[in-house]
Amino acid sequence: MCSIIGYKGNEHASSVLVEGLRKMEYRGYDSVGIATIKSGKLLIRKGVGKVAEVNKSLRLDELPGNLGIGHTRWATHGGIVDSNAHPHLACKSTIAVVHNGIIENYNELKNELCRSGHEFKSETDSEVIAHLLEEYFEITGDIRLSMIFTCKRLQGSFAFVAMFNSSTLCGARYDEPLIIGVGNDDYFLSSDILGFLNYTDRAIFLDNRDIVILNDNDISFFNFDGDRVSRRMTQVAWELGDADKGKYSHFTLKEIHEQRYTIVKSMQQDKKNLEKFCDILTGGKNIYITGSGTSYHSALLAKQIFSKSKIHVETIMSSEFQYSSDMLDENSVLLAISQSGETADVIQSVKSAKTMGAKVISIVNIPTSSLARLSDSYLEVKCGPEIGVAATKSFTSQIALLYYVADIIGRKSNGILSSKDILVKAVIQVLELDSQIEGIADQLKHSKDVYILGRSLHFPICLEGALKIKELSYIHAEGMAAGELKHGPLALIDTNSIVIVLHPDDSTYGDTLSNIHTIKSRGAKIVGISNKKDALYDYQITIPTINESLYPLIEVIPLQLLAYHLSICNNGNPDYPRNLAKSVTVK
Ligand code: AGP
Ligand code: GLU
Repeated sequence: MCSIIGYKGNEHASSVLVEGLRKMEYRGYDSVGIATIKSGKLLIRKGVGKVAEVNKSLRLDELPGNLGIGHTRWATHGGIVDSNAHPHLACKSTIAVVHNGIIENYNELKNELCRSGHEFKSETDSEVIAHLLEEYFEITGDIRLSMIFTCKRLQGSFAFVAMFNSSTLCGARYDEPLIIGVGNDDYFLSSDILGFLNYTDRAIFLDNRDIVILNDNDISFFNFDGDRVSRRMTQVAWELGDADKGKYSHFTLKEIHEQRYTIVKSMQQDKKNLEKFCDILTGGKNIYITGSGTSYHSALLAKQIFSKSKIHVETIMSSEFQYSSDMLDENSVLLAISQSGETADVIQSVKSAKTMGAKVISIVNIPTSSLARLSDSYLEVKCGPEIGVAATKSFTSQIALLYYVADIIGRKSNGILSSKDILVKAVIQVLELDSQIEGIADQLKHSKDVYILGRSLHFPICLEGALKIKELSYIHAEGMAAGELKHGPLALIDTNSIVIVLHPDDSTYGDTLSNIHTIKSRGAKIVGISNKKDALYDYQITIPTINESLYPLIEVIPLQLLAYHLSICNNGNPDYPRNLAKSVTVK
């Protein structure tokens, strides 16, 4: 999703802003812009493209001044054109605004503002914020009141930063993140701590319905009702800023390889915290698990892992939660899984579960996220910053942690605790298949359709593998329960089909083998991911033999690598796939 940054201090603001936006590039965007103030005059430059490209052509970082705002846009309203890029100016060019989110009632507000004589220059929903501020400032002559009145009119989700030519910087948030970085002589307003972590590790997290106003040497906080509120400063971990590709050509590849450390790290939990989490989980009469995308696949796998430990759970896709959550009540526990902890669908589900009286616990990678803050208890997966838009290491960390929790609270164990060393060795062995998988990707790069089949625990991994291939390589891919093939999809299988089969020698082996014969006789090419050699496969990816319950943790890695190499073969950008954002903060 987009990123917002604001700066007020002694540094050359535009360089700080451009650097901050670069650090937050992983969030996904299509346009970039910044505005600064010099001698009471607002200066603005913006355009479509990546930060480096736009900076090169427009020299964003040469705008003068020590106060400014910046934005990377992920378009929701209005085409991807220069005029829709943020910042947006009000009519008199004395107020500039950058916004993240969606203003749901923008049409109504725009019509009203146009009737009062305001002229709009973009098609975005965001521009109404600048004009509303201008309108209320004209009436009240007071920045604080203009912010309060404006926020009260906005419906939807938003974090915005506004800059007034009187050198005042203001911010407000409602269901989108906004964090203040506090330096020695300067302040930052940012969507993510990565935007300012090069300068300071002191942060203030705004709550929903908070407004912040930065005057010359003064910072003040209000809620949307105009009441003064106080917000605590916290120290954030410097390691979170460790976003570097190292020796790898892409973050995605680096993050896939980091799994040799991250999987076991997720099981290093503080004892008290873990106990609290498990107590809430086991205290619930009904347990539900929710998540989106890859995190939802973790939920699907968790259902099977928990069931092996004799614990019944139901899964609900976060984007469907509002339509299928009627059965939640005060006896329920909702476990929300999210890497970012900012996914709008997940946050919405958690909020509605709370209104139904349910307890909420979560598994997150970002401990300072909205989800962690909304939860009665949370566990961190601790896999470090995941910059690649495709979730890789966060997925295996989530599932390792879920195995761990299930084994602690369950009546029957999946055996993760006794298999840690074997698991690490197996992960390393699978990562060593990288160049073999690169070769297979080269053979498969022109495929139009890929099917991924498996049964039982392998089924959620089929879905996850297909998601990785779709988002990274843009090749159509479908994950399926192998037994479902004969109930319809078999009609699609012909000599052009590529079928990847998750086929370790476990209790699913025999039944899946029959499915492979059926596919093979229709002339499809088979990629077998298995610990057992078989001439039936056209390509074999040999994984090591491990405890039967734990195969999902290692078999997903060849699928991640395949998706990565297919992306490279097809000239994609695996770190930033088209149309996608790392943190999806809109519904
Ligand atoms: C995964 O590769 C995707 N980019 C996406 O499905 C992602 O998992 C989803 O948006 C949920 O994100 P979260 O874990 O941060 O909530
Ligand atoms: N809705 C706004 C737009 O389309 C902001 C989108 C964003 O969060 O980048 O410009």
